[in-house]
Amino acid sequence: MNYSGVIYRYWEYLPLSRDIEVTTLLEGNTPLIEADNLRRELGAPCKIFLKFEGTNPTGSFKDRGMTVAITKAVLDKAEAVICASTGNTSASAAAYAAKAGLKAFVVLPKGKTAIGKLAQALIYGAKVIEIEGNFDDALRIVREIGEKTKVVIVNSINPYRIEGQKTASFEIIETLGSAPTHHSLPVGNAGNITAYWKGYVEWAARHGTSLPKMLGFQAEGAAPIVRGKVVKKPETVATAIRIGNPASWKQAVQSLGESDGRIDIVTDRQILSAQGLIASTEGIFCEPASASSVAGLKKLIRRNYFTQKDTVVCTLTGNGLKDPDTAARDVPPPLKAKPHLSDVLRLMKLK
Ligand code: F0G
Repeated sequence: MNYSGVIYRYWEYLPLSRDIEVTTLLEGNTPLIEADNLRRELGAPCKIFLKFEGTNPTGSFKDRGMTVAITKAVLDKAEAVICASTGNTSASAAAYAAKAGLKAFVVLPKGKTAIGKLAQALIYGAKVIEIEGNFDDALRIVREIGEKTKVVIVNSINPYRIEGQKTASFEIIETLGSAPTHHSLPVGNAGNITAYWKGYVEWAARHGTSLPKMLGFQAEGAAPIVRGKVVKKPETVATAIRIGNPASWKQAVQSLGESDGRIDIVTDRQILSAQGLIASTEGIFCEPASASSVAGLKKLIRRNYFTQKDTVVCTLTGNGLKDPDTAARDVPPPLKAKPHLSDVLRLMKLK
């Protein structure tokens, strides 16, 4: 198949006309992997599939939305774009802006952005501004810049981002032949859970498919939706979802309500343990935030939430290579040997 990215693939579902110039890095078309080893390890009665978004061009799901947002910005003759970010949005915005020849500004919380993501934003040529504050502070500032200047905001408060991100639901239904019964996602700024639900609903309206229950998971120290109040100082090892006042809070709650889903908390320990388990059982290296979808799944399996008839999709939102420091911290260090055969063999402990 001659694949040309999510806009060409799903044009009739997007608010764009056919005769425009498209900015794409051939995002989307990501693997949906059946996770039988993980299923066995978790003692799950249901089928488990992992939608690995880490294979997108900049290594996260943000590229699905960014192709649409940047294509629209070019159409509107924008000269520059801006976003607040915990890292992935900034990497994606910087890359698509580079491809489109637009200037990009990104505002990041200082010292809390994974090194891979920061390196991406810088090498793609964005102007990177670090603030002494968190993501919520950064987004507040970016919103004001959007009101006071002509710079286009490409956070998920830009509806074109959500439009692009909903295409992941389409791919899942097309691969499985139907919608899953449940869909599990990490929740940060809450745009993605909103986008997936929009995708499932729109596909159902056209094709009569069923709808999944949406399952969202927030980190214990950054769980405003679960707690029902803004978290002033969010903290979690999963820096991608270190957010205390999500922009799409209302939409996320609506998606959860309409789908008869639920939102819950996972601890940092559970997140890191799930990250290791996904890697060691399925050979998939995702970033910590992504693993909260599986950490949450594990929690619900323990509560006998699922049955044999269920099919669960967990989205692994980003690539583990973006945040190698966190991963390397949580595993045993390499063994050390002298440069001799005997010493290496001794450490291998073959029988
Ligand atoms: N997983 C990863 C890897 C993310 O980068 C994000 C959000 C999420 C999950 C949560 O998605 O915000 O739509 O609920 N990252 C944003 C960023 C905030 O700036 O890169 P959400």
